[in-house]
Amino acid sequence: MKLKTLLLIVVVAMAFAGCKYDWIVPEEIPVIDPDDPSQTVSFSEDILPIFTSGNNCTACHSGNQMPDLRAENAYTSLNSTRYIDKTTPENSRIYNVPRPDGSHYKKLTAAQAALLLAWIQKGAENN
Ligand code: HEC
Repeated sequence: MKLKTLLLIVVVAMAFAGCKYDWIVPEEIPVIDPDDPSQTVSFSEDILPIFTSGNNCTACHSGNQMPDLRAENAYTSLNSTRYIDKTTPENSRIYNVPRPDGSHYKKLTAAQAALLLAWIQKGAENN
């Protein structure tokens, strides 16, 4: 009886284990041509949500930790040469510090990094 119960548990466990699939969907990285004006990147629609949704960055960057990435302050907070380098966008601190292969507390996904870089390449406007 005991052995049968044990066997049953093992069989059931194996059945469940056998049916578990983890689908890894490759992340789609947007390709944005910095010189194509028809491809726009919006600060309010594309960039802000990276910082604020799910408190991704605002968990820490909400006033005491610079830059202040809360929706109402993010643009003003970032709009300086400390964070944005329009001449060499890749060197911008807001892009560089949380880059996907970096070691920041929270890293950008490759898609978020591509959007952020394109936004800076297109002039880092408050659009
Ligand atoms: C767990 C808390 C935490 C989270 C989440 C976090 N950061 Fe930070 N961040 C910090 C701390 C602390 C510093 C300052 C010390 C350091 O750089 O390690 C910092 C520094 C920075 C700096 C450099 C500031 C300067 O003036 O030099 C940038 C840019 C930055 N964070 C961007 C981001 C972005 C973008 C996100 C979201 C993807 C993010 N951080 C998420 C804690 C956090």
